[in-house]
Amino acid sequence: MTKRILFVCLGNICRSPAAEGVFRDLFKQAETDSAGTAGYHVGEPPYGPMQAAARARGLDLSDLRARQFEPQDFARFDLIVAMDGDNLRNIEAQRPADQITPVVLFTDFAAGSSADHVPDPYYTRDFDGCLDLIEQAARGLVSHLEAGHAL
Ligand code: 4NP
Repeated sequence: MTKRILFVCLGNICRSPAAEGVFRDLFKQAETDSAGTAGYHVGEPPYGPMQAAARARGLDLSDLRARQFEPQDFARFDLIVAMDGDNLRNIEAQRPADQITPVVLFTDFAAGSSADHVPDPYYTRDFDGCLDLIEQAARGLVSHLEAGHAL
């Protein structure tokens, strides 16, 4: 079954494009996209230091462009994956009454990590730590999907 998965952070230039880049490399049968709850960086490619850290791991994020999350995304995707609780609440506040698409926290899939959100490397400057956590969560999400678990 085709899965359409949307990754969401605040600016859509660091965490969610990195999550999309890591995830699409691991799980090629999904359709992926990413978006930001804010519109500050619409149309921009992922942040340079994030692209560089990803490239060092063999991941090319240069085709991605930032866009803002919109309520229509509930109908376009089977699963919406938020990078932190603020994003999740912001997304849920835009849920149309007739939409049941699940919105989940990415870190809930990061077995072995106690993180309850993906810290924003735009502020922490820890791009590699961010990618480490994203890779853990992406592997967990792939296992979940491959096991056919409901979301
Ligand atoms: P992201 O990081 O949400 O991981 O893309 C951010 C990048 C830029 C800003 C906020 C978050 N900003 O406010 O410009």
